[in-house]
Amino acid sequence: MAIERTLSILKPDATRRNLTGKINALFEEAGLRIVAQKRIKLSDAQAGAFYEVHKARPFYGSLVSSMTGAPVVVQVLEGEGAILKHRDVMGATDPKKAEPHTVRAQFAESIEANSVHGSDSAENAATEIAFFFAGTEILP
Ligand code: TYD
Repeated sequence: MAIERTLSILKPDATRRNLTGKINALFEEAGLRIVAQKRIKLSDAQAGAFYEVHKARPFYGSLVSSMTGAPVVVQVLEGEGAILKHRDVMGATDPKKAEPHTVRAQFAESIEANSVHGSDSAENAATEIAFFFAGTEILP
């Protein structure tokens, strides 16, 4: 399988509860390498633009404000089949439906405060990585 990169976000509910190390450990144990990482506070405009694809959904406004309430950790993860591997470690969007070994089953508070974001395709991964990182900030 090809080496891929994916964009991961540790969401405000995770940073608030001091869970970034525990979640990163699950990523690293799955064979994902953190090749870029920074802790930032998203503005309304940034969160709104990042989730633009969900603009027409009823949960959009609440999702955007939930992403700006505390810092997030944005990161680039690299590894074999990294996009799907990361989605597998994240688990289903709704933590009640997530497999027990996953981040969301173990840590998420709700479908909205679900601890982690991950790109869902190679095309979106490239766009989302470029949204947060310059090429020079990614160090394999
Ligand atoms: P989505 O892209 O469907 O899920 P995933 O994060 O698993 O790729 O949705 C993006 C985020 O929107 C999701 O992580 C949490 C939020 N969301 C809600 O708040 N309510 C919902 O009913 C859905 C489907 C998503």
